[in-house]
Amino acid sequence: MAGSDTFRAAAAYDRAVGRYGPSLAAGLIRFAGVEPGMRALDVGCGTGLLTAALAERLGPEKVTGAEPSEPFAEAARSRVPGAEIVVAAAEELPFTDDVFDTVLSQLVLNFMRDADAGVRELARVTRPGGVVASCVWDYAGEMMLLRAFWDAAREVEPERGAAADEGVVMRWCSEGELRRLWESAGLRDVRTGALTARAAYESFDDLWEPFPSGIAPSGAFTASLDEQSRTALRDTFRRRLGAGDEPFELTARAWAVRGVVPG
Ligand SMILES: C[S@@+](CC[C@H](N)C(=O)[O-])C[C@H]1O[C@@H](n2cnc3c(N)ncnc32)[C@H](O)[C@@H]1O
Repeated sequence: MAGSDTFRAAAAYDRAVGRYGPSLAAGLIRFAGVEPGMRALDVGCGTGLLTAALAERLGPEKVTGAEPSEPFAEAARSRVPGAEIVVAAAEELPFTDDVFDTVLSQLVLNFMRDADAGVRELARVTRPGGVVASCVWDYAGEMMLLRAFWDAAREVEPERGAAADEGVVMRWCSEGELRRLWESAGLRDVRTGALTARAAYESFDDLWEPFPSGIAPSGAFTASLDEQSRTALRDTFRRRLGAGDEPFELTARAWAVRGVVPG
């Protein structure tokens, strides 16, 4: 990807779902019990939103990020100078056993090729007694932005919208599924819970702007439509959100899971 495309992809992510990242990261860090002095790994760190929140709490020298997309890894390096960011997928982490005090992963499980293998790797690189924690959007319920988007998509393009609806196609987005995934990786004292993130918008246009860029499944769906359907989607989405030209805020629920490495 050329330099300006790299910048555009990372900037589009930050303006879309990334807008909830800092607020969600604060909740995940609390839920995981991250404390000063710990060494932490952020798996699937993307553009570095959780990495930055971890670096603020622990110092960047105590934080490592792993991300398979080179452009996103580059964006994370710029966002969090001093943190080590490696290009790697969860399923094959390039670290020896037991090196991190805690391993976190925000909004990544459902994008992994093999989540079972990924979570086993998260646990392998965490020291005995350390916490592995993650969260995934409540796509089918109270992630207001994406729920309204997919409801609008289903209204405008019933068949294609239903086939792509993340509330239907995404795995690992209920407390029960997350608990089973953690327990099957051998993690102990598994707990689940809800995290609520927030994002502020200047207007509906501010919210809509990154969607046609093709970032994330919702962006890819938007970019795949012809102009007429895209305009219909935009208008329906706006109506469903009840948003106009004034500033507004949306909330988004994520389901979180944490467990302790035995030993
Ligand atoms: C929705 S983004 C979340 C990014 C970041 N954690 C955040 O909270 O903003 C999903 C991220 O998972 C990454 N990803 C996809 N497959 C992955 C895998 N197998 N292992 C680790 N990360 C993966 C993507 O490249 C992308 O950066």
